[in-house]
Amino acid sequence: MTTSSNPPNSVTPDQTSGMWGGRFSEATDAFVAEFTASVQFDQRFYKQDIAGSIAHATMLAKVGVLTEAERDDIIEGLSTIRSEIEAGTFEWRIDLEDVHMNIESRLTQRIGITGKKLHTGRSRNDQIATDIRLYLRDEIDDILKLLERLQKGLLGLAAKNVNTIMPGFTHLQTAQPVTFGHHLLAWFEMLVRDSERLQDCRKRVNRLPLGSAALAGTTYPIDRAYTAELLGFEAVCENSLDAVSDRDFAIEFNAAASLIMMHLSRMSEELILWTSAQFKFVNIPDRFCTGSSIMPQKKNPDVPELIRGKSGRVFGDLISLLTLMKGQPLAYNKDNQEDKEPLFDAIDTVRGSLMAFADMIPALVPNIEIMREAALRGFSTATDLADYLVKKGVAFRDAHEIVGKAVALGVAEEKDLSELTLEQLQQFSDLITADVFDKALTLEASVNARDHIGGTSPKQVEAAIARAHKRLEQLYA
Ligand code: ARG
Repeated sequence: MTTSSNPPNSVTPDQTSGMWGGRFSEATDAFVAEFTASVQFDQRFYKQDIAGSIAHATMLAKVGVLTEAERDDIIEGLSTIRSEIEAGTFEWRIDLEDVHMNIESRLTQRIGITGKKLHTGRSRNDQIATDIRLYLRDEIDDILKLLERLQKGLLGLAAKNVNTIMPGFTHLQTAQPVTFGHHLLAWFEMLVRDSERLQDCRKRVNRLPLGSAALAGTTYPIDRAYTAELLGFEAVCENSLDAVSDRDFAIEFNAAASLIMMHLSRMSEELILWTSAQFKFVNIPDRFCTGSSIMPQKKNPDVPELIRGKSGRVFGDLISLLTLMKGQPLAYNKDNQEDKEPLFDAIDTVRGSLMAFADMIPALVPNIEIMREAALRGFSTATDLADYLVKKGVAFRDAHEIVGKAVALGVAEEKDLSELTLEQLQQFSDLITADVFDKALTLEASVNARDHIGGTSPKQVEAAIARAHKRLEQLYA
């Protein structure tokens, strides 16, 4: 029979059972040790784990559980370990299961038995919950910076294209002319909501679980508010059972990340359409594209295509976390170790996608003439002609009917409404006079007429861009 061979106060807990082997009568099966380990992926948290431990030790010294000398030894030891990890000299051991035990074991190796006191009043359950929150908080802040950069890029491109006219679509059929600037501002709005969602999610991420210990709290006279302050948390998690178990904040992040990806995927789809030979609305510079190994003429919009594809994996990450959490009884369960990879994957994917978009958007080159010609096809000003008749007293439903007939003539003659003669138009209503061309049928008349907040007129788009800059200042204040 093997029992833990480490005598009390031993300084060499050189295998996992040194951490919890007291009640075990045999060593962990090698496969099980590897199967249950998380250090392969949770070593990402080393910085947060060390910061959390330093705050915990500082708090323990404040309340008299550790001496100041012990606290200082621990802090110095942990700082050295951080340098070792960053220098690549730290040896991560699968048999030590996770980031927490790897670091704690090394600490004890370095500073002796004081290292064994670090875990006083704490459990890996509240430790991991704290690490994830610290990590996610930092990632959210980085993602917000990327969103801001992309939004500024959109405003810059929109400002250059306040007067650029393109067809607006519904059902992917030509609907009404819009300005390209207005279209870009639609993308901007989607991202504003994405940013608001992330900032809102951040509030719930930014709570301290530490002090919950395994599930019920701890017998030591801890000062959780102090630890929270040291780590920059807004408040403490109010219930220890909840704090160690729920990952709703990570689910919420993945939901927000999914919506960002859904938006980027929609933008990608439009870019893919627009760069095709059939549309030719925009050019994406070569550096964002690749060619074909067989077709010499190809220039493929790989970046938007890949982002459209990557949206699927982030939605999958969201569903993974929801399914992981569903049905778990209180409090901590090992299931929760599976929260890391879907969270990391969503973070990495959304970051990479936003970075690609933020670089690509300011580099887009619209083909202004081609967009304009496209807007002249498909009877995009038909609604304007109906509105023109309404202003002359025709009921809208009747005006719709009249214009429908004029469009049918245009289809037959293969001409836009603006290319029909006044006489031809007058066959359908004698209320149509020579001013119809300037007032209703030109692209400029059409967009200029939509002159209210949220409308596509260049004047409104310019005002919307000015407001958008102010809104960004508030959003990222
Ligand atoms: N690696 C674990 C996780 O990711 C850390 C917490 C382990 N707690 C435990 N009681 N086994 O959730």
